[in-house]
Amino acid sequence: MNITDDRISFDGVSAQTIAETYGTPTYVYEENRIRANFRRALAAFRKHYADFRFFYAIKCCNNLAIANILRQEGAGIDAASVNEILLAKALGLGGEDVMFSGNFLSDDDIRQGLESGVIFNLDDPSLLPRVLKFGKPECLAFRINPGYGKSEVGHFVTNAGPEAKFGVHPDQVMDAYRAAKDAGITRFGAHMMPGSCIRDPEYFGFITRLIMDLIGRASRELQIEFDFIDLGGGLGIPYKPEDKNAPLDIDAAAAQVATAFKEKIAEYGMKPPRLMMEPARYFVGDAGYIVGRVHTIKDSYSRIIGTDIGMNTLARPAMYGAYHHIYVDGRESEPRRPVGLCGQICENTDFWVKDRPLPEGITLGDLVVVENAGAYGYAMSYPYNGRLRPAEVLVNNGRHWLIRDREEFADLVRKVHVPAHLAPKA
Ligand code: LLP
Repeated sequence: MNITDDRISFDGVSAQTIAETYGTPTYVYEENRIRANFRRALAAFRKHYADFRFFYAIKCCNNLAIANILRQEGAGIDAASVNEILLAKALGLGGEDVMFSGNFLSDDDIRQGLESGVIFNLDDPSLLPRVLKFGKPECLAFRINPGYGKSEVGHFVTNAGPEAKFGVHPDQVMDAYRAAKDAGITRFGAHMMPGSCIRDPEYFGFITRLIMDLIGRASRELQIEFDFIDLGGGLGIPYKPEDKNAPLDIDAAAAQVATAFKEKIAEYGMKPPRLMMEPARYFVGDAGYIVGRVHTIKDSYSRIIGTDIGMNTLARPAMYGAYHHIYVDGRESEPRRPVGLCGQICENTDFWVKDRPLPEGITLGDLVVVENAGAYGYAMSYPYNGRLRPAEVLVNNGRHWLIRDREEFADLVRKVHVPAHLAPKA
């Protein structure tokens, strides 16, 4: 994003052009920024450990146009559900380019996951006999809860430790791999996902040691080698302006991970496994924005700017109290005063910005731009109150493409069936 003479643009496409061409609210993604994020991270990790690969956690932004950018860059796909495996297949990816890390799976999930032929990553030892009912995967991983997790988004996305629903308890790791070995599985992987949005490089070294101690012991005692270790996602981005000067030092994170990894490989005498991570936010978070419009301004107990960007468009503030920075097109250099900002949903959690210094002259028709909306933005949007999902647009060096239609009324009633006795008379 660029601001010149107060006018906001995205890789050469103005916010005005987006609004006039596609309407508001609209999600905008910068292709080149996604590529730059990916390349920066890949170069850092490969520099410190050559046998390294990224899988893109497609849950964070599942538009196939976006996922294809990451596929072109060489990413595999981390799938959380059978439908996400199908998204990976739509990208032309399958087999060992895709890892299925679902949790609390149904028998149908297990059967379809197995039939899809992707790498199966089990969230609990109790899954193994259920998998074996349908067939025997050649390669199997367990998602390990190493007993510790952390997140800058808060406890909401701390995905490991005693409070989390995910992963194999550290005390069960040995028995889980023993059972897999006894069942005749010959290739093994290990996985964890202790937390999301972390900018502290040391954290990544710390969690690497945690999983490697568990895996190293299993490797030694069970005489098995590991094909790969997947450290999950978690590479953080700054959301607040005051954090902008402290982005994640990706080279330091990679160095921390590689040092810990090599140290533990040596300690346990392991054959060096492939190292994998499956970030999402780091690739697309800061490459995505929402362009919305101011429709009503209300002076009541306080001044509230009403826009078409609601908790349904961007759930993170209402769900997690998450901060997203807001810019106002054409007014960034104006003096500011603290105001609130909301969407059009009949819930008070939709009053998602309070006391934020925004440009004083903000008025009806102005365009507002929400930053860092690329990850867990559109993917978590929903059509509550009949306020339908926005459009998605990709920009690249002055060009722009609609990559998902805005929802329309027909989408609200599609797949709905009214029994004859309830239908209004013609
Ligand atoms: N791998 C697995 C198994 C995951 O569950 C996730 C995200 C990732 C990778 C990617 O994590 P990342 O690199 O983005 O940290 N909705 C929350 C974030 C939830 C994270 C869920 N899992 C938010 O908006 O902050």
